[in-house]
Amino acid sequence: MKLTSAVIIASFCLVASAVPAPRGRPARGRTPPPPPNKGSAAATKANNAVLGAAFFMTNEASGNFVMASTIGSDGQLTTVRAVATGGKGQHANSTGPDGLFSQGCVKVGGNNLFAVNPGSNTLSMFAITPNDPANIKLVGKPVSTSGEFPVSVAVNSAGTMVCALNGGKKNGVACFKPSANGLTAIPNTVRNLGITQTTPATGPAGSASHVLFSADGKQLIASVKGAPPAAGFLAVWAVEANGSLSQTFQAVTPPAGGALPFGMAVIDGATNALLVTDPGVGFDVMDLSKLTAATGNASTTGITSLAASNDILSSPSSAVKVDGEDAVCWAAFSKKTGTFFLTDIGTSLVTEVAVDTNTLAATIVGQHALTPGSATLDDAVATINGNDFLYVLAANLTSVDVMSLQGKGQATSIQSANFAAAAKQLRVTLNPNNVQGMTVFVS
Ligand SMILES: *[C@@H]1O[C@H](CO)[C@@H](O)[C@H](O)[C@H]1NC(C)=O
Ligand SMILES: *[C@@H]1O[C@H](CO)[C@@H](O)[C@H](O)[C@H]1NC(C)=O
Ligand SMILES: *[C@@H]1O[C@H](CO)[C@@H](O)[C@H](O)[C@H]1NC(C)=O
Ligand SMILES: *[C@@H]1O[C@H](CO)[C@@H](O)[C@H](O)[C@H]1NC(C)=O
Repeated sequence: MKLTSAVIIASFCLVASAVPAPRGRPARGRTPPPPPNKGSAAATKANNAVLGAAFFMTNEASGNFVMASTIGSDGQLTTVRAVATGGKGQHANSTGPDGLFSQGCVKVGGNNLFAVNPGSNTLSMFAITPNDPANIKLVGKPVSTSGEFPVSVAVNSAGTMVCALNGGKKNGVACFKPSANGLTAIPNTVRNLGITQTTPATGPAGSASHVLFSADGKQLIASVKGAPPAAGFLAVWAVEANGSLSQTFQAVTPPAGGALPFGMAVIDGATNALLVTDPGVGFDVMDLSKLTAATGNASTTGITSLAASNDILSSPSSAVKVDGEDAVCWAAFSKKTGTFFLTDIGTSLVTEVAVDTNTLAATIVGQHALTPGSATLDDAVATINGNDFLYVLAANLTSVDVMSLQGKGQATSIQSANFAAAAKQLRVTLNPNNVQGMTVFVS
């Protein structure tokens, strides 16, 4: 039966196994994987108030859906909804999970959720009702991203500017102002990345990865993986006072040893520095504090100002090896633990990293094992009742793994919520090769 309704409003208990958190877990070393999902116990508890929601998307060519799941007071996922974006998904020119080669295809900003539609070259906006956060409502119509194969979206901290990253043949960024009526294009924000690509994108080498704002909101940064021998780079545009972007971007290459900039996370407390995952080595710490404005000349050809980047990237920057890594690609930060959680699609290990905000020296705190072969992709952290929880999309299982982050080095698995049964009940296709993204809302 073909699904025609725009929004599926049936809400129900998500069948999931609740894994008790082990006590006294040592701060270092790998935690054992959670027991297999038994598909029996319903996670919903009568006294488990809804305090947030977690979102990912189906990225199906027949119609893209946001899977929205409520978060209870214990951090666990409880009920789930599927909401049409009004656009289509598309898989990159590759096989297997991570069909967008990206981080951040869905993103919460303020009381809104944004989702890219790679197969229709559009961006969708939803309104979130804080006391019923999984019940998202499409606002206006999806808008054109002025490019092809959008893979990532960023929102500034003020919630006034939303930018999509196009990763296809016509690649670059485009920004919008959100309002109660939907998204309106901001003048002078359609900017080229200038990489040689196809629609859908070919990769993962040489593909666009992720877009985000600097901590002060004055720069828009897009990451691009290298295609050896060509180096990957970060494209940094200045955000002008009137909301327009600088005509050109400054290209910044990774420090020696780095090659494939993928997911990015702002290093909280540093002047202007990023932790950038790099499946070629592990991750890069990139200090952008000397980059005061985007004055590069890389407007059309992409990486023309690389010569300058060695001066720009000051000495604390480093490429850090994660031993045994396969492809460390996604990053999320927990304020409570003060550490970053990096996921690896190949090993299903979550690598926890601490970065000194003054020296930018990075330390690997430990690794936490999720289910082997589950193809762990995007992750996000939510603070619920003063406790931090990590949500990891385990694409191959169409599951979301939930970890409790009681303190630095103390991540423990508390739930593996399998969405397959819910999707079947909601008549939404969930393909392990297509599902992507992870973002959270806290009520
Ligand atoms: C995928 O890549 C192959 C090899 O480069 C190419 O022949 C093919 O046309 C591409 N397909 C699409 C849909 O871009
Ligand atoms: C915004 O400011 C920039 C830089 O000052 C200027 O070049 C541009 O024309 C302005 N754009 C608009 C739409 O006002
Ligand atoms: C752009 O950058 C290249 C490489 O650094 C340099 O040779 C060239 O002169 C620059 N062009 C302009 C117009 O600044
Ligand atoms: C995902 O599952 C498929 C089928 O079981 C398997 O071949 C593949 O290796 C898995 N992918 C990852 C990244 O674990």
